[in-house]
Amino acid sequence: MNLGEQFGPYRIESVLGRGGMGTVYLATHARLQRRVALKVIAPALADDPDFRTRFLRESRLAASLDHPHVIPIYDADEVDGVLYLAMRYVDGPSLQALISEGALTPGDTLRVTEQIGGALDAAHAADLIHRDLKPANILVSEADGHAYLCDFGLAKRTSSRAMTQAGSFLGTVDYCSPEQIRGEPLDGRADIYSLGCVVFHCLSGRPPYALDSEIAVLQAHLNDPPPTLSPELDGVFGRAMAKDREDRYPTAAALASDLRQAIAEGAPATVRAQALPATREHSTQVAPRARRRWPWIVAAAVLVALAAGSAAIWATRDSGDDASLAPFVDRVENMLTQSAAGRREIAAALSDANKCKTSNAAAAERIDSVATNRQSILQQLGSMTAPTPATDRMLTLLQRGLQNSIEADRHYGAGLRSSASCPAPKNPNFTLAAASDRAATTAKELFVARFDPLATSLHRRAWSAGEF
Ligand SMILES: Nc1ncnc2c1ncn2[C@@H]1O[C@H](COP(=O)(O)OP(=O)(O)O)[C@@H](O)[C@H]1O
Ligand SMILES: [Mg+2]
Repeated sequence: MNLGEQFGPYRIESVLGRGGMGTVYLATHARLQRRVALKVIAPALADDPDFRTRFLRESRLAASLDHPHVIPIYDADEVDGVLYLAMRYVDGPSLQALISEGALTPGDTLRVTEQIGGALDAAHAADLIHRDLKPANILVSEADGHAYLCDFGLAKRTSSRAMTQAGSFLGTVDYCSPEQIRGEPLDGRADIYSLGCVVFHCLSGRPPYALDSEIAVLQAHLNDPPPTLSPELDGVFGRAMAKDREDRYPTAAALASDLRQAIAEGAPATVRAQALPATREHSTQVAPRARRRWPWIVAAAVLVALAAGSAAIWATRDSGDDASLAPFVDRVENMLTQSAAGRREIAAALSDANKCKTSNAAAAERIDSVATNRQSILQQLGSMTAPTPATDRMLTLLQRGLQNSIEADRHYGAGLRSSASCPAPKNPNFTLAAASDRAATTAKELFVARFDPLATSLHRRAWSAGEF
């Protein structure tokens, strides 16, 4: 969409930001002369009929909420097939931008918690769950510090294919409840968990589980105890972020009330958080830390399997009419064969370099060309249409596996290039390569657990995760 362009009743003025679902523009409603924030949904998503229906329904529900801290929705509709949502324009930073500059003071944190908590309780009373409560969805007006909660119910329920094709995932895993990770039906207490995570981030300057990979963060949400910060506050985090939602605060108001008390009990002295200057400079927004994007469905699938301690639980789910899936199996097999050849080539290159048969640079060259090859396999995968939901899940897992393998390849290449001596000395690139390899193996194991039963039922060979 071009700036100055007319879009339905709106004139597009400028780009406010981009998110997992599309682009947000500053626009003006021509007749009303009202400035709005116009969220225009990415075509890859909007083309999905399920998504369209859900989007329009959820937007209308959100528009029916009338609360001072829920962003007012003016309009949700489509222009020539392009879906959009028009909402109040907030002139100010997101909470995400604010905390990327450091922790908030306890007083500022409490203010945001009470405001956003009020919005959540009102939504829950109307049977609406947010599902994606995170600092990026909280906007704070520059003029008066009024906080608005945005993007009700929009995220995390879109189909995996649409997301993969859009090339990105909606959001972050930093604030996600265990039951959401397990793919269970949700109620308002999922939002309470997320609010606890946001409060922790505000006070400490980091998300509750600041770990290297999304997988590690998801596992921590499932298994690690709630994070701790100070004796006064830890009880609040323990209850807000309880693994079992039965143990959580029943309302955000209850959470906010305990937070107020904990802060009054001397938290300011003990919170290891740096206070904000009294007046903040919002105009220069610090680039947020690299976004962690992750195909949600994959992450959930991986973790459900990990949590159950067995990848095999997926193996025989809705395998459908197997014979009609033969062309699908053939195509995938072809890609696995190519990737397997790449894997052998990498092993040979690493071994040759290790035995000083070739230079590190030459070995890196060989590994790079495997990575390039895998990239093209990944592209083919992205353009494939899966015949059934079960095969769709297989494709998504295989994509994840290959993505991680490519990452590992790049790290190996960089590790080799960093030194001319033989054997190449240990360096951080090799550690990263090993981590990517492990992530690749996890995804590939889950893929194989689903794909092999299908392949063997069609009298094709079975694969192991370590082969390709
Ligand atoms: N109502 C609004 N007023 C002003 N800016 C907005 C509004 N809604 C969204 N934005 C801006 O657009 C960006 C992208 O929003 P969004 O697509 O929801 O992605 P995300 O929530 O993942 O950041 C936000 O980070 C914010 O900077
Ligand atoms: Mg948002």
